[in-house]
Amino acid sequence: MALSAFSSSFKLFTYALCLLVLFTTSSCQQLSANFYAKTCPNFHSIIKKTVTEAVSKETRMGASLLRLHFHDCFVNGCDASVLLDDTANFTGEKTAGPNQNSIRGFNVIDTIKTKLERQCPGVVSCADILSVAARDSVVALGGPSWKVLFGRRDSTSASFSAANSNLPSPASSLRDLISSFSNQGFNAKEMIALSGSHTIGQARCTVFRNRVYNDNNINSSFARSLRAKCPSSGGDNNLSPLDSSAKSFDNRYFKDLISQRGLLHSDQELFNGGSADAQVRTYSSNAKAFSSDFASAMVKMSNLRPLTGSRGQVRINCRRTN
Ligand code: HEM
Ligand SMILES: *[C@@H]1O[C@H](CO)[C@@H](O)[C@H](O)[C@H]1NC(C)=O
Ligand SMILES: *[C@@H]1O[C@H](CO)[C@@H](O)[C@H](O)[C@H]1NC(C)=O
Repeated sequence: MALSAFSSSFKLFTYALCLLVLFTTSSCQQLSANFYAKTCPNFHSIIKKTVTEAVSKETRMGASLLRLHFHDCFVNGCDASVLLDDTANFTGEKTAGPNQNSIRGFNVIDTIKTKLERQCPGVVSCADILSVAARDSVVALGGPSWKVLFGRRDSTSASFSAANSNLPSPASSLRDLISSFSNQGFNAKEMIALSGSHTIGQARCTVFRNRVYNDNNINSSFARSLRAKCPSSGGDNNLSPLDSSAKSFDNRYFKDLISQRGLLHSDQELFNGGSADAQVRTYSSNAKAFSSDFASAMVKMSNLRPLTGSRGQVRINCRRTN
């Protein structure tokens, strides 16, 4: 009795504190580690199993799921807005420039959601699924792990224009990259660590063509082999790995940059005689430093402006609002 009185007055206290925070900073995050402990205790093993199976079927899926979380979080916070399908009277984020014909992994998210709806209907948000799936993907490919907090809710809207303006372009300069990440609260070092995501996955010829024909800070034998895969016209969807060990999450990406073997123009901008060079050298020679900075930056990214409390909803189908 006394304990529950204490616990409810404690809740009241945190609620009041939260209101105060809400009034002063207009953000009141209440993500927590045990959010689903009572309502869906097995949710994590369901996600992990489905992600692990998907990645063992197709290695690249791990990269695609990591990127999906990034493209969600940088566009008005981690609220699963990226998952909403377009309809006759609604244009979401899927056809924005950085996403169209590019982001993938929706079927894996649907599979996870279907399983979770069977176990604990209406409980686990699509935004939390994306966050856990990204972490489990990195782990499945040999990268570091980190603790994910839960309690994000799903948006009822999406922003085509914010997807176009907030997601960095592969033509970005170092200055553009620093500014795009700074707009989301990340410093240059965190931006460099997060860019290490390009240690896994692939990119289409259309996003690296300009680099392999026109950049002069590219390794010449590397450029030659890429031109063979990416003709000056046509072959837009031909894929190339983002680093020379794109199936495993390691620090090879940074070593490749030092050999002028970055695939995207924006990748090589991190090692082009500018202010990021020293950090790239550090990560190229210190895998542990990269792993631990990457994990910390991912926690920060995962916690970008979530919808909590009664804002948003828990979508039943990640592709549409309830
Ligand atoms: C620093 C600025 C960034 C730029 C300019 C950028 C740009 C791109 C581009 C153009 C592609 C290839 C898309 C395609 O060919 O369809 C790509 C792939 C990818 N990006 Fe980024 N990205 C950036 C940062 C990030 C971050 C922060 C993450 C994750 C936290 C990330 C994760 C990925 C992954 C894993 C892939 C491979 C996806 C797959 O194989 O399906 N990127 N990125
Ligand atoms: C949009 O179209 C759907 C049917 O596709 C309809 O159910 C919904 O009410 C429409 N919403 C608005 C805001 O017009
Ligand atoms: C080009 O790549 C090869 C193979 O990785 C490497 O040995 C060489 O040092 C690179 N050249 C330059 C200029 O970085």
